[in-house]
Amino acid sequence: MNSTLSPDKRASLVEAQMTLDEKLRMLHGLYAVPANFKGNVPPNVPPQQAVGSAGFVYGVPRLGIPPLQESDASIGVADPVSGVTGGPVRGTAGYSTALPSGLNTAATFNPSVAYDGGAMIGTEAHEEGFNVLLAGGADLARDPRNGRNFEYAGEDPWLAGVIVAGAVRGIQDQHVISTLKHYAINDQEVGRNTLSSNIDWAAAHESDLFAFEMGVRLGHPGSIMCAYNRVNEVYACSNQLLLTDILKGQWGFPGWVMSDWGAVHSTYDAAAGLDQESGDYFDAPTIWFSGPRLKAFLNEGRIAQSRVDDMVFRILRSMFAVGLFDDPPVITPINATADALISQHDAEQGAVLLKNANRQLPLNSSIKSIAIIGGHADVGVLEGGGSSEVWPVGGPAVTPHNFGFPHPIIYDPSSPMKAIEQQAPGATVLFDDGKDPRSAAKLAASSDVAIVFVTQWLAESIDAKNLHLPNMQDTLISAVAAANRHTIVVLETGDPVVMPWLSQVSAVLEAWYPGSGGGAAIGNLLFGMVNPSGHLPITFPTGVQQLPRPKEPGLSDPNGYFDVNYDIEGAAVGYKWFDKNNLTPLFPFGFGLSYTTFAYSHLHASNSNDHVTVEFDVRNTGKVAGWAVPQVYLGFPEGVGEAPRRLVGFQKVALMPGQTQHVSLSVEQRLLGMFDDTTGNRHWYVTPGQYQVVLGESSRDFKLNTTVTLTSANIAP
Ligand code: BGC
Repeated sequence: MNSTLSPDKRASLVEAQMTLDEKLRMLHGLYAVPANFKGNVPPNVPPQQAVGSAGFVYGVPRLGIPPLQESDASIGVADPVSGVTGGPVRGTAGYSTALPSGLNTAATFNPSVAYDGGAMIGTEAHEEGFNVLLAGGADLARDPRNGRNFEYAGEDPWLAGVIVAGAVRGIQDQHVISTLKHYAINDQEVGRNTLSSNIDWAAAHESDLFAFEMGVRLGHPGSIMCAYNRVNEVYACSNQLLLTDILKGQWGFPGWVMSDWGAVHSTYDAAAGLDQESGDYFDAPTIWFSGPRLKAFLNEGRIAQSRVDDMVFRILRSMFAVGLFDDPPVITPINATADALISQHDAEQGAVLLKNANRQLPLNSSIKSIAIIGGHADVGVLEGGGSSEVWPVGGPAVTPHNFGFPHPIIYDPSSPMKAIEQQAPGATVLFDDGKDPRSAAKLAASSDVAIVFVTQWLAESIDAKNLHLPNMQDTLISAVAAANRHTIVVLETGDPVVMPWLSQVSAVLEAWYPGSGGGAAIGNLLFGMVNPSGHLPITFPTGVQQLPRPKEPGLSDPNGYFDVNYDIEGAAVGYKWFDKNNLTPLFPFGFGLSYTTFAYSHLHASNSNDHVTVEFDVRNTGKVAGWAVPQVYLGFPEGVGEAPRRLVGFQKVALMPGQTQHVSLSVEQRLLGMFDDTTGNRHWYVTPGQYQVVLGESSRDFKLNTTVTLTSANIAP
């Protein structure tokens, strides 16, 4: 307990005191929820001390080692509502605050918002008795149909890495370990337990792995979760190259690797670099890292004692580094009001204004009549499904019905309609549930404006079948737009959707899954109390024909062992694929409108000792305060690069009308290079030459450009 010693020193002092049995007990975790979904084994009964969420790992009371109390936390401290008990596990009163989806947080282009959200959920976790959060989703959005994109941070590895690292730091500053997941290339849900994500290793380093690398280097997560899928034919949790060579070797990750729940395939996974088996009920009856099994492996020389010691050491080291010994959780009521405001701020910064014809928005508060249509907008906003579900404070706004995983469908009780009524106190605000387009159109026809809320519920374990809004909502929008030319569409979607009605409506706001403050955020944005400033972290295609894989692989036999060929696009994920193939998307990566306008000047790029700095001025040229999101793309010389351009820097800048700010961005060195995997000596290398430096408001809207000359350089992997 001498906190002046380093985490390494403290961990080795404790590890030296532990018996073999004590060590082995730390290497497999229990599922901390009562469950009975496996016919061939007795029901799961978690130990008394378990707070009751995704996981529990025994500590060693004799030595003061606390147990690990793990909860999912992609958008908040999750409650396992999924199927096993037919309701929330930790009570019915409502527990935690839901952040907006990960895509929303990425759309803020603001790592400090990600940090604040992380700090909020870290605080709630600490107050609810948890010391490990399974947060930090960093898989890239290679497919806009992926059912879990809402838990991740978009298609660009630099943006995703920076955002996720911000969230991890926010969580861990509350003395709660954060986990990066799902390592790696778990980029579609269909067939996730069997598929192999196949990709050239160099391209993987320049794309998916780069997001994780930045998450590790900038966020210092205590743990990382290996994924269900295979990568280049070898299961992620058995993959020595991924776990030992790249993560622990190249990146110097000092923490521990835990498995996803049910993702272990062999006791030999320990030798490959897996440190801890999670939720062992998922693997039952074979507990791969059980004490007796590991002991047998040790006795037979199939695993080295030094490896077992390293596994334990890594767990202890992270526990010390993050403060689990010095600042244990203290059960305290959460401050739901303050926490909802943090969530609301994230939603306000991440909602993306996609269309605003004739300055339809912001709405004037003197407006007389407003039709609110669809999406349960009278009572709440949608959450995504699966293990990330948060049972929100106050309980779901719409009574959940189906409790089978990955259900139920949860609406956070933050009513957009109430917020709109508050913004326009003199207006008649009426609601139509949108089920019958004719009745919705009738209400729209008799109102000054119509606001249609449309939803796309997505969830872990399933992918969107296509890019269309489900349940005939396209028809609903068209019917309303035909009845009222002031039709505003608010999207609550987990992924990009196509918009066949786009030319018929006057404004579109992508509000993602906006979380516990979502209703208020939408109200503030529609009425201009807050200026929209989100920019797309994911390309919106015009249709599946523009994707590298128009037909999602594995649909015919999701349980079969199939390959997903990511070499089609390699590292050219998302906008890079669109740029490389000259495809015009519906909305490009980085796009987002504001109620003000910005002008850019004095772009200058310099290279001193292989450190590239990009500087420019940005000015608010409109009449209201707002946030600019200048983005810097590096344009490769002919024959270099995975695509014509790569995002290498961005900064969100708050500006009053008429205000100018000077911005200086230092470009992460690896972003200048390509990865060399051909020799035993893996490294990044910079091809000498003249590179374009383009400054824009999206990946397709460039304001200024200049060049920078790069010299040949090698960078450690
Ligand atoms: C998910 C993980 C989650 C775990 C524990 C798995 O099904 O893939 O993201 O952390 O369950 O709930």
